[in-house]
Amino acid sequence: MRVAPSLLAADFSDLRSQIDMLNSSEAFCLHVDVMDGNFVPNISIGFPVIKAIGKMSEKPLDVHMMVNEPGRYTSLVRDCGAKLMNVHYEACTHLDRTLVQIHDAGMLAGVTINPATPVAMLEEVIDIVDLVLIMSVNPGFGGQPFIRNSISKVARLRDMISRHRASALIEVDGGVNDLTGADLARAGADILVAGNYIFNSPDPQKAILTLKNL
Ligand code: DX5
Ligand code: ZN
Repeated sequence: MRVAPSLLAADFSDLRSQIDMLNSSEAFCLHVDVMDGNFVPNISIGFPVIKAIGKMSEKPLDVHMMVNEPGRYTSLVRDCGAKLMNVHYEACTHLDRTLVQIHDAGMLAGVTINPATPVAMLEEVIDIVDLVLIMSVNPGFGGQPFIRNSISKVARLRDMISRHRASALIEVDGGVNDLTGADLARAGADILVAGNYIFNSPDPQKAILTLKNL
């Protein structure tokens, strides 16, 4: 299992030491949550902060854009040093164009679906995305309870990927801990995002390892 710690739950008053800790952990990448107060009710961080995170991080950045029409920001996200840009299916009027723009900017392209969006909506883009992010909470806040039907969504997505002989990775975000993570691993997830489970643990590096070994 690959683990993507969500910095939303990190101590922002001491970001440098939090990122140093992640640099020397078994984390696969750092998950950076961007919120616009419009697509989701909350506002998080913007490009100057992401750029600073990119400079400090030795791990690739996975930037989760919870903003309307994220295609407007592909070059800014790339300039922050992001390796992967995740955009919401629900936030893109022209999703295919946005995914092409992300590739043209030199990043991997991820498409994210909200809990109420069926996996079937990805049928036409599954061959061109590098990753699908299944939200297992409604986006906007950390620390929410895991929505159980996300497990069967992972299994349905795994079926779709095999049917298409596609190579997209499956990432899951929201309410992930050792128990929900084990169910997601069995259903076929490749990457687990976790915020509170990692940063509220007395030993965050050990929590990362626990998820990695699922
Ligand atoms: C929620 C964000 C998540 C969040 C996860 O909108 O996309 O990445 O930080 O936090 P936990 O793991 O605490 O649910
Ligand atoms: Zn996220």
